[in-house]
Formats: sequence, structure tokens, C-alpha cells
Amino acid sequence: MSAKNPLEDLESGYEGVGEFYDLFADNSDIPFFLEYAKKTGSPILDLAAGTGRVTFALAEEGFEVVALERSKSMLSVARRRLEHSSPDISSRVQIIEGSMKDFSLDQKFSLIIIPNSFGHLLTSEDQLSALQCIKNHLLDDGIFILDLYPGAHQYEQATFEDPPARLSDGRIVKRSGEIKSDFTRQIMRVELHYTIQDVNGNVINTINVVSGAALIFNREADLLVRMSGLNNENEFGDFQKNPFTLDSGRRIFILRKR
Ligand SMILES: C[S@@+](CC[C@H](N)C(=O)[O-])C[C@H]1O[C@@H](n2cnc3c(N)ncnc32)[C@H](O)[C@@H]1O
Repeated sequence: MSAKNPLEDLESGYEGVGEFYDLFADNSDIPFFLEYAKKTGSPILDLAAGTGRVTFALAEEGFEVVALERSKSMLSVARRRLEHSSPDISSRVQIIEGSMKDFSLDQKFSLIIIPNSFGHLLTSEDQLSALQCIKNHLLDDGIFILDLYPGAHQYEQATFEDPPARLSDGRIVKRSGEIKSDFTRQIMRVELHYTIQDVNGNVINTINVVSGAALIFNREADLLVRMSGLNNENEFGDFQKNPFTLDSGRRIFILRKR
């Protein structure tokens, strides 16, 4: 019997909760991606696109976007969104089921993004494989935006509770979570608990999911960028384009093929 991969349990963190994702999402990154989309033009590849949060924001502004995503739950939300979009917008969006660590599309892109998601590649091997695939899919004058959460600033242990949110049908969704970082293995484990209430406040469902993210430290990030074979044109410490410093909570690389 082969040994179970301990990281496998950390790969299914979005199953069954796709319909709640956007309720708790932070959309402050969208103007940033839009600004770069205006610089590069279409086509754009949105990797680990989730519910299509960024994909559709770009398509609404006239860009052609291919969204690649692994989770069936997230894909079903993105596909529902596609069905309900105007013909004009839906003609610009393509949704593909696949993994960012190993994909092959018959198209190259002006812009490739992975909003909030590169850390879900849990091993260096998967991260390097994704970077190689990205390079292969970038047009010669294309840009790849790599946004990371510097590992040193992640909580070792924390619990949190989001304010309750309401779905369009009136159901109330409460989300709380626990974060535990293993700084030796460089893996952060995030456990999320969802409680769904009907319009009268009766609990009708509870769902618990676990996901993992690689803790990527700054020197490791530097090496990943070097090994990507792409040129580091710029770096920011947040989506407002403040310069990256060692205290920044984000690290956003603007990488070019040439
Ligand atoms: C934090 S969510 C971000 C979703 C979206 N990028 C956004 O910003 O709204 C992370 C997403 O990455 C997806 N994901 C994780 N590993 C993946 C992989 N190897 N290939 C494709 N998608 C992946 C998850 O299913 C989830 O939808």
C-alpha cells in the first residue's frame, strides 16, 4: 500500500463552498488587474480563477479572458455566471477545468494572472511546473503578474470570524476560521466553518473545509522569479502600487518575457 500524501488533504478546500466565496472576497485587487489589462490588451489567462471574480470584471471592460480552475464547486459558480451574462460578455469568456500546475492550451496570452492563489501550489516542484507552463503560454511581449503573501508575515496561529453575509435568496452565511502555520514545512493550514441559516435564522447546513497554502519567504520568491526565466520589471507591496518593502503584506511581481 502506498503512503498517503499528507498534502492531499489540503487540496480540496473549496469543494461545496463555491456559492459563498464571493460573499467574503476582497475586490480591491480588481482596479490593479484592470490597469494592466489596459496596458497589455487581450487575450488574458486567469489561473485558479475561482468563481470568475476577476475574469468577469475584466470581460465586462471588453477583455477576452480564459479562466482555468480546478474546483468543481468554484467552476459551477463561474459557469452559472457565464450563463447569466449578456451575450456580449459571455462571448469573451472561456472557462476551462484544469490545474495551473500542469496545463496546455492552444493559445498564448498577453497577460497571465493568478489572483490570491499561487500559494495553493504546495510544493516547489508544483510551483516551478506552473511557472514553466506560464512562460510557455505567454506571448513574447506578454506580462505575468505574480502576487504572493510573504511567508514571514503569516500568522502562526489565529482564529477569525467574518461579519455575516446574505445570499440573494435571503439565506444568511456565517464564516469563521482557524489558521495554523507550520514554519518548518512551510505550509499554512486554513480551516473554514460555514453556517447557513434560512431567512428566519434557522441553521439549515454547516460545512467545514480545509485548504493549504505554501509559506513562500522572500528569498524563495526571488529564486522562483529567477528560475521562471522571466524578467522582473517591477515589484509592489500592495494593489495600490506602493513599493515593496520587507514589511509589505503582499509581494506583487510584474514579470515580462523580454
Ligand atoms: C483564494 S481562491 C482565489 C480565486 C480567484 N483567483 C479569486 O481571486 O477570486 C483560490 C482558488 O485557487 C483554486 N486552485 C487551487 N489550486 C489550483 C490548481 N492547482 N489549479 C487550478 N486552480 C486551483 C481553488 O480551487 C480556488 O478557486
